[in-house]
Amino acid sequence: MSEKKTFYITTPIYYPSDKLHIGHSYCTVATDTMARYKRMLGYDVMFLTGTDEHGQKIQQKAEAAGVTPQQYVDNIVSGIHDLWKLMNISNDRFIRTTDDYHVESVKKIFKKLYDKGDIYKSVYKGKYCTPCESFWTENQLVDGKCPDCGRDVIDAEEEAYFFRLSKYADKLVAYYEEHPDFLTPTSRLNEMVNNFIKPGLEDLCVSRTSFDWGVQVDFDPKHVVYVWIDALSNYITALGYENDKYHDFDKYWPADVHFVGKEITRFHSIIWPAMLMALDLPLPKKVYGHGWLLIDGGKMSKSKGNVVDPVVLCERYGVDSLRYFLLREFPFGSDGVFTNELLINRINSDLANDLGNLVSRTVSMVIKYFGGKLPAERRADDELDSQLIEMASSLRAKYEDSMEKYAFQNALIDIFKVISRTNKYIDETAPWVLAKDEANKDRLASVMYNLLESVRICTVMLTPFMPATAEKIFEQIGADESVRTWESIDKFGMLPVDVEVKKGETLFPRIDAAKELKELEEAQNKGKEKKAEPKQDKKADAKKEEKAEGVALIGIDDFAKVSFKVAKILECEKVPKSDKLLKLQLDDGEGGRQVVSGIAAWYTPDELIGKKVIVVANLKPAKLRGVESNGMILAADCSNGDVKVIFVDDAVDCGAQVR
Ligand code: MSP
Repeated sequence: MSEKKTFYITTPIYYPSDKLHIGHSYCTVATDTMARYKRMLGYDVMFLTGTDEHGQKIQQKAEAAGVTPQQYVDNIVSGIHDLWKLMNISNDRFIRTTDDYHVESVKKIFKKLYDKGDIYKSVYKGKYCTPCESFWTENQLVDGKCPDCGRDVIDAEEEAYFFRLSKYADKLVAYYEEHPDFLTPTSRLNEMVNNFIKPGLEDLCVSRTSFDWGVQVDFDPKHVVYVWIDALSNYITALGYENDKYHDFDKYWPADVHFVGKEITRFHSIIWPAMLMALDLPLPKKVYGHGWLLIDGGKMSKSKGNVVDPVVLCERYGVDSLRYFLLREFPFGSDGVFTNELLINRINSDLANDLGNLVSRTVSMVIKYFGGKLPAERRADDELDSQLIEMASSLRAKYEDSMEKYAFQNALIDIFKVISRTNKYIDETAPWVLAKDEANKDRLASVMYNLLESVRICTVMLTPFMPATAEKIFEQIGADESVRTWESIDKFGMLPVDVEVKKGETLFPRIDAAKELKELEEAQNKGKEKKAEPKQDKKADAKKEEKAEGVALIGIDDFAKVSFKVAKILECEKVPKSDKLLKLQLDDGEGGRQVVSGIAAWYTPDELIGKKVIVVANLKPAKLRGVESNGMILAADCSNGDVKVIFVDDAVDCGAQVR
């Protein structure tokens, strides 16, 4: 038996500093659709996605939230898993860069490159924000100030390792010339050569000493591997490169395609190939740099308060409507402006009016005229049929051509042309007129069959885009597994003639656009109000958003799992080298405990000593900046961005349970 052909496709690994928005879902839905399409064609597919967990920003957010970076990201990553489950994402593997096997591989990759002389030690110079403890490049500054807090930055330097990227400039240009399809759209390739390689590639800083959350450099432990070596390696470590967790590197590498957003195309088409060249590994066959979903004419971003939550849209309109919209509305390689109006109009016109209506009319007529089951006798064809049959029969080749070019929009446009043509066929054949005369029974059965068969053919091709809807349509038109396959749409007429249909639920209820738009606008305005809040209040934002966006309600049993106790602050001091953390010694009525809390911006130690507070007493111990913390003290976010600790009346004893 011949081995199946493989297809390895990846999304970028997402940065779990906040909840993912619809822009992030865009790439994942596209990747999922491609993976499903290739599986349908019989490929052995490996679809990889994951999370990119490292760095100072997350470390700082975690400190402010009073948890470890790992705890902080665990929570967000679990939300990402839920989102992909909700959106029916069929990834075969999910990599976290904090997974042990990945960490082990990255250490080995770093050492390999160092031993080869492609990584060397030097000094990193940059702009440093002292309060945020962050290095920034000139480009990242906003009006010359720290992009996070808006304060002044200073010139600073630190010892760092560098990857000898400059050495690979000529090899990269030669590679692009020999492989013109390496980067799509090709316009991005010109941009890489003209804007980045020709002006001179600089070596890349690949380690940091100013924070410690990341993969430690084995042979120089005060350094952590910085971003790209760690992140890009995921595509090979997830297959088992330099680790024993997986063993399919030889099977799937080189990747068939990396889908990435346009702003990280540079890293994937310059740094990543150079790294692979340095490791003597083959390069991916293609990098596809897709466009961005824009909003209000600009980038979606949490600080602008204009992010769109995919969970809300899935809940309101259904997962498949959103999946369809994302790939139908915008050409994959270009930017597109997301509006609620576009989304609603697209659902109403294509899904409710065209597809939903066609399925429901067809099934209803088969039930009305034939009690749900078509007769098995010979069908009577007519002149009117040929155009429909010809269109439906030639769809597969066109669709395949578009899909192989990652032109999702074109594939869908072609399918919907056939759907429209099929709706028109109903008007042309006028089954309700045929039904008036028994003599037309054969012809009527033939018309019904042609309708069902066109619906089936379109549905097979819609399956990768809208898997759950396709399943429902197949159920309704009585298409069993054998006629849901790629092979079964090779020609018109594979649906059994005596097929039996079933009335099902309305696939896409029409949306009252005016009402919906008003509601969505109100929800968005709420988001914009948040935008006006001060920068320091990011943590508060995240919490408010979680509440507003409907984190599941918990029962009393869940609440009872948390042990809140009253404790008195006996000692308090700042955690060295941190502007945010205070170390507190508490009398908790049980022998005392030490807690680290991210409240240094709002309280001096003197203001706290002697006060009684509420502590979460059964939180897993964690280390913040290397200091052990056993629990968390409760505080509230104020609308002006301040944080106020919840103090308890002195009459309450230490150790008292709060319920
Ligand atoms: N962690 C890096 C990727 C490392 S890959 C080895 C990263 N993460 S990210 O979470 O910031 O972004 C992940 C992907 O989401 C990127 O490809 C980015 O382009 C994409 N998008 C983020 N916002 C987007 C839109 N508004 N529209 C479309 N895609 C966008 O970058």
